[in-house]
Order: sequence, then structure tokens, then C-alpha cells
Amino acid sequence: MSGKSLEGRTALITGGARGIGAAIAQALAKAGAAVMIGDILDDVGKTTAGEIAKTGVKTGFVKLDVTDDAQWERAVAATVATLGGFDILINNAGIEITSLVSEVKAEDALRMCNVNIVGTVLGMKHALRAMRPGGPAGKGGAVVNISSVAATIAFPSIAVYSGTKSAVDRMTRVAAMEAGKLGFGVRVNCIYPGLIPTDMGMQLANDIVQVGLAADINAAVGSVVEQTPLGRLAEVTDIGDAAVFLCSNEARFITGIGLPVDGGMGM
Ligand SMILES: NC(=O)c1ccc[n+]([C@@H]2O[C@H](COP(=O)([O-])OP(=O)(O)OC[C@H]3O[C@@H](n4cnc5c(N)ncnc54)[C@H](O)[C@@H]3O)[C@@H](O)[C@H]2O)c1
Repeated sequence: MSGKSLEGRTALITGGARGIGAAIAQALAKAGAAVMIGDILDDVGKTTAGEIAKTGVKTGFVKLDVTDDAQWERAVAATVATLGGFDILINNAGIEITSLVSEVKAEDALRMCNVNIVGTVLGMKHALRAMRPGGPAGKGGAVVNISSVAATIAFPSIAVYSGTKSAVDRMTRVAAMEAGKLGFGVRVNCIYPGLIPTDMGMQLANDIVQVGLAADINAAVGSVVEQTPLGRLAEVTDIGDAAVFLCSNEARFITGIGLPVDGGMGM
């Protein structure tokens, strides 16, 4: 044994092709886990998996649209077959479509509900079935859902997104309760990341300017930094390290929580 905190563990990371998901996959791999990237972006996902494989970690890519129950079945089977088990799920895939409440389009609201809420609950469904006693992986494990600081504050222009992330937070707690009471051996927690300059984060900063809430992108980012006691935006590695902790044995008595990793923005 290497003494790494996730040695011997096997993880599926949704939306793992880029951004926060890719950073979580790298952090889990560095901590000793074998990792499967699940995403709708084939090429980017395979490249990310390939980079991690170069570090000597068992890695794979599986095409996974988290809104599709049948694709979840295949992704879990592929994870067990490729990695030899499945005891960590990072439910990270998500989308954000900015809009003032006065301008919301029903189709955009439904898309966010589908990916962020339905995608997350389907992930928990398939993880619990696979990891619980008698399941195809059967050794228990940990689920980490990626919510958002937006679930904890009123941030203008992202009402529906914030609602979906509040749903992720609540579903986390119900799943943790069920898994605990039914003896599944699976802990379920979520993380609230602060704003991070990924593709999604930069798009949001641009959108804030477009809807008239900031004069320019520097002002948009500057106002988030100003609201953050630790005085900077979040970085993807901040979230990777928090995910490793929640999956590790160090977090063995922690379930049903939402962990802010936001520099204090949501306090
Ligand atoms: N960036 C931020 O500021 C921020 C802050 C808080 C929370 N989050 C959350 O963190 C997560 C990752 O965000 P990010 O900033 O890395 O975004 P991103 O847009 O950079 O990456 C999202 C990834 O999810 C994938 N994805 C989208 N829809 C999918 C689907 N239906 N099935 C499978 N994969 C899908 C994308 O292909 C992409 O690889 C999201 O849930 C987001 O809501 C982001």
C-alpha cells in the first residue's frame, strides 16, 4: 500500500471531460483511485482520460449523457468492467443558462432541470444500486454531488440554476438518509463550489454583463471577489481536494452534508 487516501478505490466522474470534473478526476487519481470519465464530449473526455492514464493510473472514458437512464446502466457496467469495481460517484455534470427571472424561457428552465436534477438523481439511483450489498460492485462507497454556492445565496440572473442546485442539495440529504437507514454502506454528500473561471464560470461572468448587472467582465468578477472573504475566485483544485476528502476514510462519519468550498462567499 502506498498510503494514498483513495488507494484501491474506483470512481466514475460525470462531466469529467473538462473544468471542475476533470480536476476532480485528476485529484482522485493522485490520491490513488482508478478513474472513469463519463461525459457527452467524446474527444475531450478521451484526451482527459489519456492524460491521467499517462501518470500510471487505471483510467477509462465512457460516453454518458446523465439524463438518460439506459446510458447510466451502460456507464456503471463499463466502470465495473474497466476498473474492477465502483465505489465512488462524482455527480458533477451540470449546465447553467443565465436569465433574469423576467426573461426566463421554459425550454431553458427544463433543460437545466433535466441535466442538473434528473441527471443527478439518476446518478444516485445507479450508484446506490451498484454499491449496496448484493449490487454488481457491492462494497458500499461514497457519492459526492456538485451543487453550488448559488444554492446558498441569492445571486441575480441565475434563479433557475440556483433552484436546481438547491434541489441537488436536498436530494443529497434524502439519499444519505435512505442509504444510511437501509444499510447500503454508501455516504452521500455535496459540495457548494464558489465561482470558478471554467468555461461555465466565464460564460456566466460574460452573461452578467449582457443582462446589465455589471459594466464589464472585470467588474463582474471583481464583485464576486469582493463578496468572498478569502479574496479570490475558487480554483478547480480547491474542489478536487474537497472531493478527495469527502470520499476518503477521513470522512467516514460524514454523510448528508453540503460543504461550502467558496472562500466564505456563502456564509
Ligand atoms: N464554474 C463554476 O463557477 C461553478 C460553480 C459552482 C458549481 N459549479 C458546478 O460544477 C459542475 C461543473 O462545472 P464546470 O464549471 O466544470 O462546467 P463546464 O461547462 O466547464 O463543464 C461541464 C461538463 O459537464 C458536461 N456535461 C454537460 N451536460 C452533460 C450531460 N447531459 N451528460 C454528461 N455530461 C454533461 C460537459 O460536457 C462538460 O464536460 C457543474 O455541475 C456546475 O453547475 C460550477
